[in-house]
Amino acid sequence: MPPAIHDILTRRLDPAWKPGEPSALLADYRERMAALAMVSQEIAQATAVFTGAIAGADDLATLQAVRNAAVSRESGAFSQALALLPGLPDSEKRVSGKALNLAKALVEAAEKAKREALESAREGDGDIDVTLPGRRPWTGRPHVLAQVREELLDLFHGLGFSVYTSPEVELETYNFGKLNFAPDHPARDAHDTYFVSPDVLLRTHTSPGWVRAMEERKPPLRLVFPGRVYRAEAVDASHMDQFHQIDGLYVAKNVSMADLKATLNTFARAIYRRDVPTRIIPIYFPFVEPGVQMDVQCATCTGTGRFRDGNEEKRCPVCKGTKWVEVLGAGMVHPNVFKAVGYDPEAVTGFAFGMGLERITMGRHGIHEIREFLQNDIRFLEQF
Ligand code: PHE
Repeated sequence: MPPAIHDILTRRLDPAWKPGEPSALLADYRERMAALAMVSQEIAQATAVFTGAIAGADDLATLQAVRNAAVSRESGAFSQALALLPGLPDSEKRVSGKALNLAKALVEAAEKAKREALESAREGDGDIDVTLPGRRPWTGRPHVLAQVREELLDLFHGLGFSVYTSPEVELETYNFGKLNFAPDHPARDAHDTYFVSPDVLLRTHTSPGWVRAMEERKPPLRLVFPGRVYRAEAVDASHMDQFHQIDGLYVAKNVSMADLKATLNTFARAIYRRDVPTRIIPIYFPFVEPGVQMDVQCATCTGTGRFRDGNEEKRCPVCKGTKWVEVLGAGMVHPNVFKAVGYDPEAVTGFAFGMGLERITMGRHGIHEIREFLQNDIRFLEQF
């Protein structure tokens, strides 16, 4: 071996390298080493130091250092030795060239095998602490409004009501006309909405479902109407231009206001608390007569009208100091609605009610911002 090549191959060796057993890395290590030694005993000896250091590397950083010293393209000993070949006499060029190429390939193969061994050892590394809690897979859940809706439907199911769904895009006559809204009555103002065309709109309440159900079926019927409704509202913490309602309708012979009150109180006790104070006060809706509103005692101020915010005492922000919160509208179905659907108002009577899901949910969970329901912030949603 020319002295220059010897020089290069030995100069890069590091006495700190710990020798290992390279034949464990490559099944054909011994054969390849023997073939190399037949060409150049000296280069084979130098090579064995590198492959030994590769086998002895305890970690990837050490392995990388040996690799760099041996075969890195710029500064590796074998790369530099190969670069010297063009300046050598032909006979040496042939012998050393063959030996160096065999040696470099062997070092690279050993390095690759060692790297794979270290990497797979590292993956399975670390003691497993069997006492650590497992990682739960993330699972979703029904939206809080869906939870409350299901609870309400369940309750009404127990009272004999079945579910009836009707379109969100509704005919003007179903949303208004057949529900006894006179064409220019100011009651329409509270139901400002989005019109698709003069006859077609986004429904402002779920009450149009009564009309569809009654036109389709004969009495008696006992139905609930859950769904999304729309109103052209200015959006703020308690108003959105889309929200959800559940209407209820019971039509039969001799249905009375007492039946309505019993149903509403059953609802309030189940959804709020067993002894929640309620009140019924008269209010106008075109489609019921008499029309009422049911209030429950404000849960935020527990009926005091006052609210403590840190050190400050102020008017309750939920009931605005009135001690009551409105939960639903209700009443006895107006004879004109029966006439509009072809029922005989002398033969049947009925009660109806309609409630807002957002309002009930907000009251229940102390949510003060209605927009949270639609914002899809996981920090909000996962609290329920
Ligand atoms: N549909 C009415 C509303 O949206 C609520 C209601 C339903 C009132 C049934 C009375 C009876 O405002």
